[in-house]
Amino acid sequence: MSARVAVLASGAGTNLGALMEDEVTGPWVVLTVSDVKDSGALERARAKAIEAVFVDPATHGNRERYDRALLSLLEARDIDYVALAGFMRILGPEFVKAFRGRMLNIHPSLLPAFPGAHSVGDALRAGVEKTGVTIHFVDEQVDHGPIVAQEEVPVLPGDDWESLEARVHSVEHRLYPMTLQALVEGRLKLGEAAS
Ligand code: GRF
Repeated sequence: MSARVAVLASGAGTNLGALMEDEVTGPWVVLTVSDVKDSGALERARAKAIEAVFVDPATHGNRERYDRALLSLLEARDIDYVALAGFMRILGPEFVKAFRGRMLNIHPSLLPAFPGAHSVGDALRAGVEKTGVTIHFVDEQVDHGPIVAQEEVPVLPGDDWESLEARVHSVEHRLYPMTLQALVEGRLKLGEAAS
């Protein structure tokens, strides 16, 4: 089984790192794209000699133009699957349609609880006893779409943002490679995923 996977990431890229390190998914990751020039994600990809491209939001006017630039890059590289890993831009309908059923996102909460960019802190502030990790197919809404994998993470007494994030990350880094593998191997299908 082989596949060509692009990882889109804006931040540190620890999930990208997990996907690249995994013995099954690692060889599939052929491209990393970021909207942040000096992101850790691009550095990690370059350190592994994976093509790492900064697509600059400032030079692409609006979301449609940005999405089109992304799409033509992905098409030029024959990308089969997209893994969003902390990509902080909203992708428009044209992009979503092009990769429908072939694009996953990972989110650090048990969706639909705590969507958005501050889920770990939101869970702490809410005082919940458990949060978690969700992986879902990407649809037109933010942090939304058929869920394909979910795992609980306990919130422990005395947790702060750092300790809870570290616990969430360790689950993410195990769950994302497994789930991407299931998608590529045809064990996950859009029509069969829970909405
Ligand atoms: C992860 O927690 C992921 O769930 C969320 O953004 C974070 C990215 O972290 N979407 P990293 O850049 O992979 O370290």
